[in-house]
Amino acid sequence: MTHSSNYDEIRKNWEKDVEKATRRFPERKETFTTSSELFIERLYTPNQTDENYIEEIGFPGQFPYTRGIQPTMYRSRYWTMRQYAGFGSAEETNKRFRYLLKQGQTGLSVAFDLPTQIGYDSDDPMAEGEVGKVGVAIDSLKDMEQLFDHIPLDQVSTSMTINAPASILLAMYIAVGEKQGVAPEKLTGTIQNDILKEYIARGTYIYPPKPSMRLITDIFAYCQENLPKFNTISISGYHIREAGSTAVQEVAFTIANGMAYVDAALEAGLEVDQFAPRLAFFFNAHNQFFEEAAKFRAARRMWAKIMKDHYQAENPKSWKLRFHTQTGGSTLTAQQPDNNIVRVTLQALAAVMGGTQSLHTNSRDEALALPTEDSARIALRTQQIIANESGVADTIDPLAGSYYVESLTDQIEKEANQYIERIKELGGAVQAVEDGYMQREIHKAAYDAQKRIESKEDIIVGLNEYQLEEEINEDLLRVDEELEKSQIEQTNNVRAARDQNKVDQSLLRLKQTASGSENVMPYIVDAVKVYATVGEIANVLRDEFGEYTGM
Ligand code: 3HC
Repeated sequence: MTHSSNYDEIRKNWEKDVEKATRRFPERKETFTTSSELFIERLYTPNQTDENYIEEIGFPGQFPYTRGIQPTMYRSRYWTMRQYAGFGSAEETNKRFRYLLKQGQTGLSVAFDLPTQIGYDSDDPMAEGEVGKVGVAIDSLKDMEQLFDHIPLDQVSTSMTINAPASILLAMYIAVGEKQGVAPEKLTGTIQNDILKEYIARGTYIYPPKPSMRLITDIFAYCQENLPKFNTISISGYHIREAGSTAVQEVAFTIANGMAYVDAALEAGLEVDQFAPRLAFFFNAHNQFFEEAAKFRAARRMWAKIMKDHYQAENPKSWKLRFHTQTGGSTLTAQQPDNNIVRVTLQALAAVMGGTQSLHTNSRDEALALPTEDSARIALRTQQIIANESGVADTIDPLAGSYYVESLTDQIEKEANQYIERIKELGGAVQAVEDGYMQREIHKAAYDAQKRIESKEDIIVGLNEYQLEEEINEDLLRVDEELEKSQIEQTNNVRAARDQNKVDQSLLRLKQTASGSENVMPYIVDAVKVYATVGEIANVLRDEFGEYTGM
């Protein structure tokens, strides 16, 4: 067996990392075997290795992390099964959360309704018809307390898909934790807090780029001090891909956005090895299995090199790209909805073979409506079957060494780096977004993809081939129309019961801080604790920062 000169030493280091990691997370089994009792090695490496293997592929849990960020990956701990959920009132969503946790889900993920996401209370005219529709309605701390009722926040990590008002919802989460007796430093979870992809693809922005970036780095600084276990941002490629980007663009634009956040934090005077370990990512998983698995491997290696070489980060935790995956919503069809179970399975498998840390599997009926309890359960079971029955979690990064996958990994890295160079020439991601560069690239890719479907160059089963004459008579989830009224009533009761003077004082202090350069987070925490609402707080910031009217 001929190895590159330092292979043996590096392997020994990896084995030491394994020993250390398994003290906290012992491997799931003493020995792993196939169904025919064939022994499964923890890791398979080439018989002959060369410098390229060490430098470009390496060992799991070691730079450049191509094979995964943990020394033992899923042999010790499966990815977090984290289903995105939220609709109607906080009470209804709390019920769905507790149902999913009871069914074996291992992390929470909150979907907020659009009024909450854009900083309006349920009784704001802008909220009419949207209260509780695409997510849970949160107006005040009272709603947040109901959302996490009987869910101990020191025992579960919670992701919150909230961006422009991220600081307000994070403040409410801290306040709920304290009411449960959980100190802020014990809280685990993630706040999406990624405004650039909102400008590019998702649209729930409020403020112009500059103040938005300030709010984001204020969260970085505040969490560094007070919530050391909380991930401060989930730099998202998911929505960029849903808007029609290619896999290469998804990686490139997401990483370019990540670099913009690092630059903004450095400009705000933060130390890279202080904030970078708590940056997280969020990618999509579409149908092309090998391309998706290679995409994740390429993204990990790119980020590791950028953080180590470009930003000179020295803490290995700064180099690790930790990510959540959601299977591709836009790949689901309204036609023959059962076919979507197969699509989601393939996409979830690609995410696992690509080394995801956390996973949401879409439900079969999501091209039609928010998922019913039954379809959400099948989606969760899909992950549980992959984890427990397929064997793919029993050895680390099993696709490594595949001529195809390694070549795809290299190609995706190369082409994504070319986009990143182009974005650097444009002055970085913020400038590129303001110029509409990424948006134009995505729109072109989306148009080309649609043409391929219409020409049947791309076959979508049940959509442009193998169709059925079918009545869609699914049992769909319907959000109670009465909800808007009862939600407004509850918020009015909260306003009537609170100490209005304290609310006014807290909002005044926030306004003064927002107009200065001090961190606004402590003042937002104070405001939510006296039951100032999402809309009231967001409006104070609207008065200070103005609203962004779009690219
Ligand atoms: N060996 C040793 N340690 C291990 C291990 C192993 N094999 N596996 C895990 N661990 C450790 C980790 O290091 C971590 O400990 P640490 O915090 O002390 O480092 C702990 O176990 C938990 O593991 P992870 O951090 O890997 O897993 P989490 O699930 O807690 O976090 C994440 C994953 C990607 C870092 C985090 O950011 C996350 O959960 N993100 C989720 C985001 C999300 O759900 N987004 C949904 C958005 S929905 C949306 O926007 C779409 C809509 O708009 C349509």
